[in-house]
Amino acid sequence: MTEVATSLPQAAAEVLRANDRGRRTVAAPALYPHQWSWDAAFVAIGWATISVPRALEEMRHLLRGQWATGMIPHIVFTPEPGYFPGPDRWRTAGVGQAPADVPTSGICQPAIHSLALSVIGEQARRKGGADAELFRAFLAETFDGWLAWHRWLETTRSTHPTGLVEIHHPWESGMDNSPRWDVPCARIDVGTMAPYERQDVRHVAGADERPADADYDRYLWLVEQLVSVGYDDDAARRTVDFRVGDVFFTATHAMSADLLAALGDGIGRGAEARKLRAMAARARAAVSRTADPATGRARDFDMRAGEWLDSATVGGFAPLVCGADAGTYDALVEQLLGPSWCGHPALAHPVPPTVTPDSEAFVSRTYWRGPQWPVLVWLLTWALRHHGRRDAAEAIGRAGREQLGDLTFAEYYDSLSGQALGSQNQSWTAAVALAWTWGEER
Ligand code: SER
Repeated sequence: MTEVATSLPQAAAEVLRANDRGRRTVAAPALYPHQWSWDAAFVAIGWATISVPRALEEMRHLLRGQWATGMIPHIVFTPEPGYFPGPDRWRTAGVGQAPADVPTSGICQPAIHSLALSVIGEQARRKGGADAELFRAFLAETFDGWLAWHRWLETTRSTHPTGLVEIHHPWESGMDNSPRWDVPCARIDVGTMAPYERQDVRHVAGADERPADADYDRYLWLVEQLVSVGYDDDAARRTVDFRVGDVFFTATHAMSADLLAALGDGIGRGAEARKLRAMAARARAAVSRTADPATGRARDFDMRAGEWLDSATVGGFAPLVCGADAGTYDALVEQLLGPSWCGHPALAHPVPPTVTPDSEAFVSRTYWRGPQWPVLVWLLTWALRHHGRRDAAEAIGRAGREQLGDLTFAEYYDSLSGQALGSQNQSWTAAVALAWTWGEER
């Protein structure tokens, strides 16, 4: 074993412990001092390799923020200062659907949660005894919450004829300023709103690592629009300037609904499991209908303009997450490993960049416009393994672990220079380092 291989899991565990606030983990020490939804799911996957009870606490804390509609909000706020936009900008306090006693944002993020439950469950069964019992009790207690989340995604957010999960803010995709959203974002007509001061740029070495000020104006304007309709889903559909079918989100919904169904079968919730599988099948079919005939990659859909959105981003590989017919799946794996993606000769590490360097939109160091995100790399390796493409999963996973060998646990990495960017000691990066280590032991 190399030195990196022995120290990576220890260093990763130290990052999680340093970011631990008892019942939840800050997404990053300074840049993201609260609990983020999809971060928390990945973080719980990391915790599961150390402590099943602690992993479950992470999930329980997130669920405290769930709305009466079933939505799991993208941020559960905690008293820590230093983040903008905070609760006073989201103004969800007093909104009927929001929890009365837990401050949250008013939008959601990709549905990774039942993947986390599934991985924690695997760890719990492996450890046996009290951990296995605790997991079963937790699942029985919280199953309806996770089910409600998927039901809301289906009944409220998948009503468009494309069947795609509809998002009302680029932050809901988790890939904020991705070129995926350039066209619909350009249509946002920013109105008058209270002035604000960005905090995020204070916590990174260079402002070019983060979205532009013009992006932030749009992000804050969309929040104003959502506030103006009291976060009512039907009214939001008619009001917000950004209404997009997100193919990657849809794929996570399909994947997680399937995994939750399997967990439900194990605790006597067979009827609900059948409904979850039907939801997953509908979402997977929606993903399969998005294929771009020219590239084979999946596409998002601009629901305001009624147009497919073309961009050369990692979002196009959504079918790898939720599954597809063997021909489609294999062609996408080949493309992912090929010279425009992992195999691009200019990459510092052969793992998927968020945008191919061949694209005009590619910027190697700017947030979701080109850097490599370890958490996405891990998700793809999990999915490839889950869908039986072990060789591809191992090749990408090996390179992904090597990228983490600098032990900075950066939020993302410049895909050309390999430089660590964004926040360092990012919880979800540490979490996937742990998940990879454990995955390789199996
Ligand atoms: N990713 C956004 C941020 O940078 C919001 O979730 O704060």
